Amino acid sequence: MIWNIAALFLVILTKCSEGANILYVIPFTSKSHYIMLRPIGLELARRGHNVTVITANREKDPPPNYHEVMVDDKKIWDVIGGERPNVFSMVQLSAENFHEKILWTGGTAFTEVTLNSTEVQRFLKTDVQFDLVICEQFFQEALYVLAHKYNAPLALVTTFGNCMRHNILVRNPLQLATSISEFLDLKEPMSFFGRLRNLYFTVYEFVWWKYWYLEKQEEMVKKYIPDLPQPVPSLYDIQRNTSLMLVNSHFSYDVPVSYLPNIIEIGGIHLTKIEQKLPEDLKALLDASEHGVVYINFGSNVRSAELPVEKRDAFLKVFRKLKQTVLWKWEDESLKEKPHNVITRSWLPQKEILAHPKIKLFISHGGLIGTQEAMNNGIPIIGVPIYADQFNNLLLAEQIGFGKILQFHDINENRLEIVISEVINNETYLIKAKEVSKRFKDRPLNALDSAMYWLEYVIRYKGADFIKNPARELTWTEYTLLDIYVLLAIATIGTIGAIFYLLIYITSLFKYSISIKHKKLK
Ligand SMILES: *[C@@H]1O[C@H](CO)[C@@H](O)[C@H](O)[C@H]1NC(C)=O
Ligand SMILES: *[C@@H]1O[C@H](CO)[C@@H](O)[C@H](O)[C@H]1NC(C)=O
Ligand SMILES: *[C@@H]1O[C@H](CO)[C@@H](O)[C@H](O)[C@H]1NC(C)=O
Ligand SMILES: *[C@@H]1O[C@H](CO)[C@@H](O)[C@H](O)[C@H]1NC(C)=O
Repeated sequence: MIWNIAALFLVILTKCSEGANILYVIPFTSKSHYIMLRPIGLELARRGHNVTVITANREKDPPPNYHEVMVDDKKIWDVIGGERPNVFSMVQLSAENFHEKILWTGGTAFTEVTLNSTEVQRFLKTDVQFDLVICEQFFQEALYVLAHKYNAPLALVTTFGNCMRHNILVRNPLQLATSISEFLDLKEPMSFFGRLRNLYFTVYEFVWWKYWYLEKQEEMVKKYIPDLPQPVPSLYDIQRNTSLMLVNSHFSYDVPVSYLPNIIEIGGIHLTKIEQKLPEDLKALLDASEHGVVYINFGSNVRSAELPVEKRDAFLKVFRKLKQTVLWKWEDESLKEKPHNVITRSWLPQKEILAHPKIKLFISHGGLIGTQEAMNNGIPIIGVPIYADQFNNLLLAEQIGFGKILQFHDINENRLEIVISEVINNETYLIKAKEVSKRFKDRPLNALDSAMYWLEYVIRYKGADFIKNPARELTWTEYTLLDIYVLLAIATIGTIGAIFYLLIYITSLFKYSISIKHKKLK
């Protein structure tokens, strides 16, 4: 009897916690993207879902219900063609140039590499069912068609904060006056010029993206994913039907904007669980530093070793004068004659280092992942923005008061010394950093649980059509009420015109009768 009840219980339990079949599409090879996207796939698997991941980053020890479909691991420079450039040289690219040269060229090439990968092609031919397709939103829209292929709801996740692309796709209001494109570097985003530049860039990006870039993505769908259920909606329409959008921001530091219920902020998701420990040697080194540590790392794409010689020397001269220990990610053996307080490593576990209490200052390129790590731990930043969203991340840090922007062209001994000494010695930066850290972590549900809740919500309600903006069914003229404004304008102009002509007519009648009277008098 007891056993029967136990067995029944077990059946009920497994039924209740039945996992879903989830396809997670994150083919972009970049390490910094994977740092943020990785916990989502692993946590879904930990919660018992059957997760299939299209990825270029292999996990060392994945759980048995985590299936990897490997994308050929090619770096962006291989697929664009040509040598890897010195990434510091990108500091000169305008947002438009950055799109043309890097994002659109790279996005097209990467989508093709993904779809042409042997394992992906093999996977596309197997017969599987999915309850949810999650895609990264990053210049690879062709893959959204998988939601149509498997007749599953689509959720999108972005490693960026709020911007035009994320708003347009679920028909969230644009809010262009405060929500600036992440690729622009505007010192005063809300000034007249700032808003004008943002509007211009938004229109430029939208037109090229919709009428040119998406067409290229459509071609790849036709080439690499045949046998789709007919009729196949356009990628634009599939995207517009997105159930959920996970955004890598949080209002505690980012610009607060209004969001539809299906846009969820999960900024800092990769910091929810810290799994690794600081390696013993590094821990000993940090523990031992008497005056604290300045940590300098320009991220996985920008290599310190490629710094122009005079800028590198400026850093070394200033570091030599510091009483703090300097820990620097330096990728090769080229750093000769370094000061005794400077320690270099070709790779450093950043998340764990920034969590160490001895870190006094983070000198970075302002990438979003690193900025969030500093924020999480209450560490002031000096940022040298190079490309993409880096300037904007640092501008937020500067506006809040826990960071300072140092333009690449301004790096010299004198300027470096002033900036470093100010951020280390003026307490306000640390106070602000601690304040941001507190409010960044103060949430009803942590970022990872919140992503899980909403992804499972979308599965529970089979796409949750009711949280989507009904405006997605409307055309642009209907949505903006332009049709009504035009009618009102015509009616108003018509009425004014009619009154005007009526007045002229009445006056002319009046004049006429007067002139007749005059004639009669004569
Ligand atoms: C899990 O997903 C894989 C595809 O990656 C599929 O082959 C397998 O049948 C699925 N398992 C379950 C229990 O649905
Ligand atoms: C696709 O992959 C095959 C080999 O798997 C290769 O021969 C071919 O050149 C690739 N096509 C493109 C456009 O990359
Ligand atoms: C510290 O920095 C703040 C903000 O930049 C500034 O207002 C203040 O005058 C500075 N204090 C000192 C002692 O320099
Ligand atoms: C939109 O997605 C829902 C599921 O979220 C699906 O039922 C519906 O068919 C989709 N509509 C279109 C036009 O693709």
